Amino acid sequence: MLSLATVLLGSGLVLRANAFVLPFRSPTSCCSLLGAEFNGDTEPKVFSNTPLQATEYESLSTYWTPAARLNPTCIFTPTNTQDVARAVKLFTRKNCQFAIRSGGHSYNPGWAGITNGVLISLYGLNNISYDSIHGLASIGAGNRWTDVYGALLEHGVTVLGGRNSDLGVGGYLTGGGISYYSNDRGWATDNIFSVEIVLADGKIITASRHEHKELFRCIKGGSNNYGVITKFVLETVDASKPFNAFAIGYPATSNNDFISHAYDYCTGGSDADTKSHIIFAASISKVGGFANGLLGSYSDVFDAANPAPVLRPFFDGTVPNPAPGFLSANGTIKVATDILSIVQAPGTRYAMGTFSVYADIQLFHTLRGIWEEETTEELKDRPGFMTEFAFQPVGEKWLAASAAKGGNSFGIDRPLVMVWLQPRWDLASDDAMMVAYTDRVRVRCEQAAKTAGKFAKFRHLNYGGRNQRNEIIHSFGTANVLRMQLNKLQYDPLNVFGRLVPGGFKIPGF
Ligand SMILES: Cc1cc2nc3c(=O)[nH]c(=O)nc-3n(C[C@H](O)[C@H](O)[C@H](O)COP(=O)(O)OP(=O)(O)OC[C@H]3O[C@@H](n4cnc5c(N)ncnc54)[C@H](O)[C@@H]3O)c2cc1C
Ligand SMILES: *[C@@H]1O[C@H](CO)[C@@H](O)[C@H](O)[C@H]1NC(C)=O
Ligand SMILES: *[C@@H]1O[C@H](CO)[C@@H](O)[C@H](O)[C@H]1NC(C)=O
Repeated sequence: MLSLATVLLGSGLVLRANAFVLPFRSPTSCCSLLGAEFNGDTEPKVFSNTPLQATEYESLSTYWTPAARLNPTCIFTPTNTQDVARAVKLFTRKNCQFAIRSGGHSYNPGWAGITNGVLISLYGLNNISYDSIHGLASIGAGNRWTDVYGALLEHGVTVLGGRNSDLGVGGYLTGGGISYYSNDRGWATDNIFSVEIVLADGKIITASRHEHKELFRCIKGGSNNYGVITKFVLETVDASKPFNAFAIGYPATSNNDFISHAYDYCTGGSDADTKSHIIFAASISKVGGFANGLLGSYSDVFDAANPAPVLRPFFDGTVPNPAPGFLSANGTIKVATDILSIVQAPGTRYAMGTFSVYADIQLFHTLRGIWEEETTEELKDRPGFMTEFAFQPVGEKWLAASAAKGGNSFGIDRPLVMVWLQPRWDLASDDAMMVAYTDRVRVRCEQAAKTAGKFAKFRHLNYGGRNQRNEIIHSFGTANVLRMQLNKLQYDPLNVFGRLVPGGFKIPGF
């Protein structure tokens, strides 16, 4: 297979796919064609920024972070798979550029939005149903997790989804997806049973471990590169036990203990008790100064006075002066994730950057030192500034669960720690400065990890920054990239989802 790929790629087939360049049709003309195509429908499905449609257009253009907002020429709101198929077929035939949006939680402008082109907003694909015989949940690709969790809890089950319930299912699931259940069950994407996808020619197919198997694997990490996914069928998890989630703050003086116990959790703790889950984070702001914190969960009965052993050091004062707060106390995943979506409220400017390392106490200190050093007084003085630096372990059991479910495109062969950096600020005029800061910290940290011999090449797609466009899928490794390229040639030979969908993380060569 590898040699075939080399031959294909060597022959310039990929380049030829890209060289198939007609000028793009003007977006205004594309919107008129689309309007005509759906003219007969009872509900309007194409919205432009005209006085008559300004209210709908505005609400459809709202993103979690206003830093990601663009102004599409028109917005298309399909209500079923056939609508999506007709539209995509039209875009392919007429050479119209477009973008695909599910929950709109991407941090990057143009990933789920477009300026000169059509935005497909999937929010009308909001079916949710549960098949109790097979234990499978079928969810439309425009849902947000809050509705999914709510509907499934009525049946006593849940699924691997966002820790913040306002996220969309489409971007989250195709990019990986870290869930509170990941230590036990792998990435959320590993828990997809099948997808319904609209290909460039408008064909609707189902991919799973049994049909279109290679495509199915490539979609787990394939983002928007193969088609518009209209439906996900997900494996479910029993939700009869109570669910606990907590956020704990620690003063800067506990730094050494915090890092040392975080290291322990990253190197065995998450495997020792897969009902537990922790993200370690730190923040800096002008007013709040420096603080350590964690966001964690336990998917069973949990008593703060007598916690599960892997969580004990974070509650009992071993890491000094914990200040715990519960997002959900013996409650449900819906309660916990709804509260986080209020805490992480929409409406603030953000940027993002990510890389991964192999766990090492000294390196953790070095990385945090770089982040603190680059967080200058000048930045801290900008209105609304706060910066967060987070560590998320991926352990043996997480990886074993992924492999047992058929594998994905990520190419992770041993435990690692994903790291991400996330500043927030108020003014659009500070965007460039904040993005440059994010990139500077990331590049310096990657260099330090390489110097320490602890750099892990993997980068989580869902946390990729706008200037990491070409390095995310590349980081999945040569073998996975080749598989993804071969599947592109088979399922999207004209590279519609690269050429006509300019936004997002793309497969190298497309
Ligand atoms: C506050 C906050 C909390 C977060 N928490 C978590 C977390 O707990 N775990 C985690 O893993 N990530 C988390 N993320 C990251 C999140 O997973 C990504 O932002 C993800 O892209 C959100 O999904 P979405 O559907 O809202 O994305 P969108 O912004 O709608 O889309 C993101 C990308 O996916 C593509 N896409 C979306 N739907 C489809 C589809 N149906 N078919 C083809 N392509 C599609 C889009 O074209 C776009 O390029 C968080 C982000 C934020 C802002
Ligand atoms: C939603 O579910 C209903 C009832 O099962 C079905 O008729 C309809 O086609 C579904 N819509 C989509 C978009 O899948
Ligand atoms: C959860 O319930 C148990 C008893 O069943 C109790 O001991 C514990 O304190 C509760 N946890 C929280 C966080 O309220």
